[in-house]
Parts: sequence; C-alpha cells; structure tokens
Amino acid sequence: MTADLFDGLETPAPAREPLAPGAMLLRGFARPDEVELLAAIAAITAQAPFRRMITPGGHQMSVAMTNCGPFGWVTDRSGYRYDAVDPESGQPWPAMPPLLRELAENAAREAGFPGFASDACLINRYEPGAKMSLHQDRDERDVGAPIVSVSLGLPATFLFGGLKRTDKAQRHRLAHGDVVVWGGPARLAFHGVAPLADGEHALLGSRRINLTFRRAR
Ligand code: SIN
Ligand code: FE2
Repeated sequence: MTADLFDGLETPAPAREPLAPGAMLLRGFARPDEVELLAAIAAITAQAPFRRMITPGGHQMSVAMTNCGPFGWVTDRSGYRYDAVDPESGQPWPAMPPLLRELAENAAREAGFPGFASDACLINRYEPGAKMSLHQDRDERDVGAPIVSVSLGLPATFLFGGLKRTDKAQRHRLAHGDVVVWGGPARLAFHGVAPLADGEHALLGSRRINLTFRRAR
C-alpha cells in the first residue's frame, strides 16, 4: 500500500480550500494541538467563565462567550466593544497562552497573511440549537489584519457570504480542528453559524467551541 510508505514520516500539509479571494479553510490545521488547546481553554474559563451576553437590542445571545488576551469583545445594552477588563470580574481577561497566539499566527501565514499579531481571542461555546446570525467583524480598529477562526468539538455549518448582507452565503461544514482565515478583500465578509445540530463529540461532548483571533487595537 502506497499510504504505508508515508506512515509515521511526516504529517501531510493541511488541505487548503479557498473560499473566496482572501478567505481560506485549512482542514484539520488545529488538530495536532487539540489536547493543549482544550487544557488552555479550561484554564481560561475557570478564570473568566462562559456567559451569554446581551445585545444592544436587549436579546440574550444563544452562544456563550468569554475572551483571553489583552482585549476582549463584549456586548451589553450600551453596544459592542473591545475592553481590556472582564465586566463580570472587573479583572483583566486571562492572558492569551503562547500556544494559541502561535496557532493563529501560523494559520494566518498559511493563508497568506504573515505577521499576524493577535491581541484578542473571543471564545464561543455553542450548545445544540445555538447559532450566530450573519454579521461582519468590524469592531476592530485595524481591518488590515485577518480574522482566524478555530473550530473544536461538534461540527457546524459555517455561513460565509459577501460584503453585502444580502449576498448569498456559501455553506461549509466545519469539523473539529478546522481553521478558517479571512482577510484582505474578504475581511469584512458577512458570516455566521447555522443552529448547531445535536451530537456527541469524543473530546467535547455535545458542544462546539470556536476561537476567533483578532487584531483589535
Ligand atoms: C464568530 O463569527 O465570531 C464565530 C464564528 C464561528 O463560531 O465559527
Ligand atoms: Fe464574527
């Protein structure tokens, strides 16, 4: 068998799937780090627990969130913003572990965006039924830097649209370890996540965790 020749030699290069100019899906890119990533997330959420935030319109989000890094994304009745302090604890967000920062930097480079220095990591937790409506990531000061999104746990349907809300969105299945990077001409693309289907993941149970790395300031 030809495949045996490669066993134990080298991990094959990640499969890259271009989604649009400036947007790339890296299949399984985060898988080699899964154990360390989950340990890091457990430590972060022990300090800054997941919470379901309130939108400026007064709705409670179905996705539970927390952050690590110098800045965290928050929403409440007064709007969306990046804040260096966790409003629940009054303390700075937990530090971004080097492993996470490096994973984001490496994925960005792989997708054509070298030198990505993330200063904010939003951690999203989806339980079955949770979803994220189509939106743009536009609260960052510098949209010259890409967004790097890491999927863990249950698979989800990622919606990736265009620069207008009404542009038809592509649907991509994101599985455990998949990483999506969008920047350049795709940086302000509308995107979202369809309601999470029920299921059971070997490491995460009936949950999906997504990390999105940004350059906020
Ligand atoms: C986000 O847009 O912040 C989250 C995307 C995802 O969960 O895949
Ligand atoms: Fe987003």
